[in-house]
Amino acid sequence: MNKKQIRNLSSIIALSLVAVLVSCNKSSENKSTDDLTATDSTNMLAKDAHSFSNPNEIAIAHMHLDLDVSFEKKVLVGSVKLTLNNKTNSEILHLDTRQLNIEKILLDNGEEAKFELGEDVEYFGRDLAIEVTEDTKAVTIYYSTNPKSEALQWLSKEQTAGKKHPYLFSQSQAILARTWIPCQDSPGVKYTYSATIKTDPGLLALMSATNGQKKDSSGVYNFEMNQPVSSYLMALTVGDLEYESLGRNCGVYAEPTMLEKCVWEFADMQSMIDSAEALYGKYAWGQYDVVVLPPSFPFGGMENPRLTFATPTIIAGDRSLVALIAHELAHSWSGNLVTNETWNDFWLNEGFTVYFEQRIMEKIFGKPYEEMQTKLGMGDLKKTIARLTKEGKAEDTHLYLELDGRNPDDGLTDIAYEKGRFFLQTIEKAVGREKFDIFLKKYFTENAFKPMNTKRFLAYLDDNLLHGDSALKASIMADSWIYGPGLPENAPQPESEELQKVETEILRFMNGEMAKELVTENWTTHHWLYFLRGLDGKLSLEQVKDLDKVFNLTHSGNNEILCDWYQQCISVEYKDAYPSIESFLTSVGRRKFLSPIYEKLAATEDGKAWAKEVFVKAKPGYHAVSYNSIESILAD
Ligand code: BES
Ligand code: ZN
Repeated sequence: MNKKQIRNLSSIIALSLVAVLVSCNKSSENKSTDDLTATDSTNMLAKDAHSFSNPNEIAIAHMHLDLDVSFEKKVLVGSVKLTLNNKTNSEILHLDTRQLNIEKILLDNGEEAKFELGEDVEYFGRDLAIEVTEDTKAVTIYYSTNPKSEALQWLSKEQTAGKKHPYLFSQSQAILARTWIPCQDSPGVKYTYSATIKTDPGLLALMSATNGQKKDSSGVYNFEMNQPVSSYLMALTVGDLEYESLGRNCGVYAEPTMLEKCVWEFADMQSMIDSAEALYGKYAWGQYDVVVLPPSFPFGGMENPRLTFATPTIIAGDRSLVALIAHELAHSWSGNLVTNETWNDFWLNEGFTVYFEQRIMEKIFGKPYEEMQTKLGMGDLKKTIARLTKEGKAEDTHLYLELDGRNPDDGLTDIAYEKGRFFLQTIEKAVGREKFDIFLKKYFTENAFKPMNTKRFLAYLDDNLLHGDSALKASIMADSWIYGPGLPENAPQPESEELQKVETEILRFMNGEMAKELVTENWTTHHWLYFLRGLDGKLSLEQVKDLDKVFNLTHSGNNEILCDWYQQCISVEYKDAYPSIESFLTSVGRRKFLSPIYEKLAATEDGKAWAKEVFVKAKPGYHAVSYNSIESILAD
């Protein structure tokens, strides 16, 4: 065992110990909560292995944050008041914390509360156990974050587009909310929240809540989120931001130098909302805005309610990457309304969202467009299944994951997204689109603002769509999809006429045709991605050079294309592209792009040595989510 494995093992042991202690401590009953569901008369939540909290006993009902943003010290300082629902007259409130400095805790009667912080467990942080009484209606925790709190990224003014003002953003999913707010950091727990944020005059603060559209010279901003949300949807960003409306109830925030480009790119946002509503019911959150963050944002997008956070790497200048907006918008139903109860049920968030996203895209951009995306998705999925199987992790190819004791980040693969989507497509095909749409609309409406788990979804599916029809049930093979590895035999086989044309060109090029002879007129980003993926690992250095000479791919303005292309360049050590690769790795922080490029480099000794040099320069610009992953890729 290497050091890291020993560390992981000891944290698993520590966490299991904590879990045992917590469950022994439970005052109310000795009945196991494992199989309990929110529709049970008891309204019990399933046990969440990634949280120390005890929401079945005491749950947060409302949160009020009062925080000062200090760019100078790179910390948030202030308090959080938690209004409690003490269901079982419990005497201990357990909260999740990590990388926080807890100063003092007051009960609502003004007395100081006794509290204890548990051992620090890797990834999970420390259990904050607060003594309360049955009369305690609220506790106020005075605390500060630390400059390394992993949810937060503090950017210097040089790291922004405008170069004039510093910038801050948070990323709470999956279990990073606890690194900036002491809370019940479990997706099944929902509460309303309000906040007062004080920052530098000249900057605008935004949250996953009601937002202003203009800076206030006082630098003080107030927020309300009157609908219950899970902790992973808590979000804050502060920067030199401006707003432009894009329709009735949507718009975009960006740094001033970026704003016009974003407005152009997102022209379809209102019609995406309209299409989504036509499919599965009214948008529940009032306003839908997107904030375009600096390039170090570690994800493509994050569905923070009322305010999606998005990477600027989708601003391609041709609207070709806006499916990401449809995706984050779709989460306003799948995820933000009906929420995975634990991270083992992550596919309920992401699989439904990819399915929904593609339905929106099909409505707006047409069937051929959707077919291309679906076929590309199947390619990604097959690759992921092959990789996980080879690594001996076949269980991670099940839709229902077993992430207990592990970092929930391990579940963030194409399985939840693509296998999830193809499972839903399989049901759609079996029952017909019309019935499936009625079912989904009902599912989102009846389960709104509630957690959902895999077992309960299957029961709901049975009751509301399959109605005990055993032949229909057998044809869907739900158990194989959910509890079995890889792709079941009834998996769809997506076809796309557009991409068939690309296949012809792949074959011609493989058979020795020169790049300039290829027929690539009217190719969109998706044609190019299919082309590059089809050639993956099959090209010679000469062929890479030929493609670059004709299509100038090394300098493509499209980050998705660059990510695939750079991998090919590294495979054949096409050194002319390395300066561009270095500038990409030092300017973009989106993990989905960084990981495969660093992995390719790490495959050879020389490549790894170079990657390490680049990483040293790039790391100060990466968010913790990204640099932690890259560090493990480059570890010896
Ligand atoms: N909610 C996810 C991002 C996420 C998942 C962050 C789990 C942390 C833990 C978001 O909706 C997402 O899926 N983003 C994708 C884009 C999408 C178009 C597939 C991304 O960031 O690449
Ligand atoms: Zn998503």
